[in-house]
Amino acid sequence: MSDSALTNNQSASVAREQWSSRLVFILAATGSAVGLGNIWKFPYITGENGGGAFVLIYLLCIASIGIPIMMAEIMLGRRGRQDPVTTMKKLAKESGHSRSWGLLGWMGVIAGFLILSYYSVIAGWAMAYVPRMASGMFSGLEAAGVNSVFSDLVSNPESLIAWHTLFLIMTMVVVARGVRGGLEKAVTYLMPLLFVLLIILIVYAMGTGHFKEGFAYLFNPDFSKITTEGILSAMGHAFFTLSLGMGAIMVYGSYLPPDTSIAKVSIAVAFMDTLVALMAGMIIFPIVFANALEPSSGPGLIFKTLPLAFGGMNYGTLFGTLFFILLVFAAWTSSISLIEPAITWGMKTFQTSRIKTSVISGLLVWFLGLFTVFSFNLTSDFTFSSTISTKYGEFVILKDATAFDFLDYLTSNIMLPLGGLMIAVYAGWLMKKEYSLAELNINRIWFTIWLFLVRFVAPIMVIIVFLNAMGVVAFIRTIMGV
Ligand code: PFF
Repeated sequence: MSDSALTNNQSASVAREQWSSRLVFILAATGSAVGLGNIWKFPYITGENGGGAFVLIYLLCIASIGIPIMMAEIMLGRRGRQDPVTTMKKLAKESGHSRSWGLLGWMGVIAGFLILSYYSVIAGWAMAYVPRMASGMFSGLEAAGVNSVFSDLVSNPESLIAWHTLFLIMTMVVVARGVRGGLEKAVTYLMPLLFVLLIILIVYAMGTGHFKEGFAYLFNPDFSKITTEGILSAMGHAFFTLSLGMGAIMVYGSYLPPDTSIAKVSIAVAFMDTLVALMAGMIIFPIVFANALEPSSGPGLIFKTLPLAFGGMNYGTLFGTLFFILLVFAAWTSSISLIEPAITWGMKTFQTSRIKTSVISGLLVWFLGLFTVFSFNLTSDFTFSSTISTKYGEFVILKDATAFDFLDYLTSNIMLPLGGLMIAVYAGWLMKKEYSLAELNINRIWFTIWLFLVRFVAPIMVIIVFLNAMGVVAFIRTIMGV
């Protein structure tokens, strides 16, 4: 590590809180990464996009874009040691570039608000399932009965608002207590427990008689089923699931001690996150096929499949209750990281306390969340579609989208990849190499590979996927006759 990097880190770290060990950082970053994205979102978007081919593209994106950008984002965070806006301004100044790079931090703060607004509503669904599971309501129930429990829940705005409020209060209380007091404790014990429960569920899925079918659905790519929107959402999901592109991992990186290997922690976090998502897929799809359900049934998928599994299993009431409790915890450790960039930025900009900033941000997110609540009931018919038709084909941007679909599309498929692209460009092209080498502290060969990935592979892939979704690639291919 060069002298300048060392002094920089050491002087800054006096003032800034730090994780108590590398393991805690890995747990916290994994806590941020593993959440509803893995267990709720991954299975349903895989189902909507036809299975294997989608999963393959998603895995490719994790390896070639996700891991290098995660390293870049942690690196920027640790070097800047501030909120994302100030970090980007500070780093840009250090390397002699425009302070407008602060905009990257800004976009992250806004994305965090928007994502948390719907994340909290869905986490509310998971909470609502805890008493439902515990009461034994699902034992012996058939698919139709389980479906109606779900539709009863989402068609009731008051109850969704109540759970959304409760989840948001839980999130803001932890955030208000700060790094060591709140965030660390929540993750240390719960993540391993979630893992154990997932293993129990896989064993159950193996006994459904449809495990092979579910497995093949996930891992046999059928490229005829993949669409340009599917490719965009596979990439968007790679960012979402690893919590990249909006400054969350940057802020977590800012609490990272100077001597920790960024490459190792990034690989560990990406590996665990992917494992949990694939495990969730291996649980859900056998249940879907065993009960002749629709893989493409949308955001309700896990709420319509898992209760069936628990309902038909020994000790299902106990395991089911525990599972939804753990899902809430997984969502909780992610939601605190969604709002942390805004909190650090708000505290600094308005010179207010952590508590006050947390209360104000919480209220804002709460109001925004009402759009999602109502898009499942009162305003569910209020949808809009957006397509670009050219003589080279029709490009669907959004189809019958509710406010929730729109928020999800805007954040996962546009804002996060755009943020990630900017992070890659900054870290790869603009930051002085001596700084990135010093921060990453890896040997020359690995550094060259990383640099190649953030300079070329990640930005080019993000740009191509964007252009593809906008129909530009098809246009060029048609002109060129290929
Ligand atoms: N990675 C989280 C999940 O998969 O549930 C969601 C998330 C957290 C996205 C934090 C973005 C973020 F900054």
